[in-house]
Amino acid sequence: MEIIRVDGSDADVFRRFYAVKFGVRREELEFPAGMGVEEARVVMAREHAEVRADGLGLVDGDAWLGIAWLDWWLVGNTDTVDVELAVAPEYRRRGVATKLLDAAIDRAKAEGRSIVSGTNMAGDPVTGESPGTAFAAARGFVKKHAELHQVAELPLAGLPEHSVDGYEIVQWREHAPDEWMPQFVELLSGMSEDVPTGDRTTAAVRWTPELVRDTEERRLAQGRFTYTTAAVHTASGELAAYTQMGGTPETPERLNQYDTYVRRTHRGKGLGIAVKAPNLRALQAGVPLPAVLHTWNAPENAPMVAVNTKLGFRPVAQRTMWERAI
Ligand SMILES: CC(C)(COP(=O)(O)OP(=O)(O)OC[C@H]1O[C@@H](n2cnc3c(N)ncnc32)[C@H](O)[C@@H]1OP(=O)(O)O)[C@@H](O)C(=O)NCCC(=O)NCCS
Repeated sequence: MEIIRVDGSDADVFRRFYAVKFGVRREELEFPAGMGVEEARVVMAREHAEVRADGLGLVDGDAWLGIAWLDWWLVGNTDTVDVELAVAPEYRRRGVATKLLDAAIDRAKAEGRSIVSGTNMAGDPVTGESPGTAFAAARGFVKKHAELHQVAELPLAGLPEHSVDGYEIVQWREHAPDEWMPQFVELLSGMSEDVPTGDRTTAAVRWTPELVRDTEERRLAQGRFTYTTAAVHTASGELAAYTQMGGTPETPERLNQYDTYVRRTHRGKGLGIAVKAPNLRALQAGVPLPAVLHTWNAPENAPMVAVNTKLGFRPVAQRTMWERAI
């Protein structure tokens, strides 16, 4: 039995690695969320401004027992390494995850990181509990935050025609238009500051045009498409709100809601739904259907959960975020 390093450069090795990771999600979740295999491989195989990713696999001959996916943040949480562990069901309760975690911690220490964080995707929608939370608690992690996982099965009928007086809608696809970039980075930074994160150790990301363009290029390299709808305050020309959704043709059945953000001075006017509904309409018109759109929100983020429920989302699981100081 040995632990091997995975970096995405060997497509066959990566496929074995990813089969364990996504196989576990598929087994645990009625609506599994996650990247397609090529979409994921690009994250590891290429340089990005925001994050460096690699992995570990515990293998025995030809058998892959378990894996760890490691995200090393390069902006924001640079003290943290994010670890996702997955163990094939037939090899559980034999210390596989513990071995992988220990190896990840050794590497994190060697790289000067002081916090290991992890997310349990498959918690019960009400209690949040799963084998992953039992493991995390047994291995010294502390629960820091919880988010409700909601899904919408597209196509949704009867999306509200909701506009807000004094605001115009603008939409774009893979690249933010240059004219909106100076304000778009303000909104992205605002999102990073304001999104509820409970007790997690978080450092807000100060977005720059270069970081936006790098992220856009990464998405294209991953094969992703993105739909953005923003609201502009007509009188002032201020970009007031935006939402982004997307996916990849590699996994047409899975779509993701990314950010939704309303600038602080424009809240309470219904701009959340005013950007989400048209974005959903554009997405539905542009992708093969049926498909499942996934979103996660802190339960205390009541306005966002209420908007989602109104649009046709329903709760399916709870994900919890855990941290351990090393
Ligand atoms: C969580 C998971 C990685 C654990 O893998 P594993 O190899 O079975 O874990 P280990 O054998 O190292 O378990 C170590 C300890 O964690 C606790 N634990 C692990 N699974 C448990 C379960 N299903 N119920 C209760 N306690 C559990 C126990 O204390 C265990 O020690 P013990 O077997 O001596 O009692 C595995 O169940 C899995 O892949 N789950 C789905 C994905 C996931 O939740 N990943 C974690 C998110 S990062």
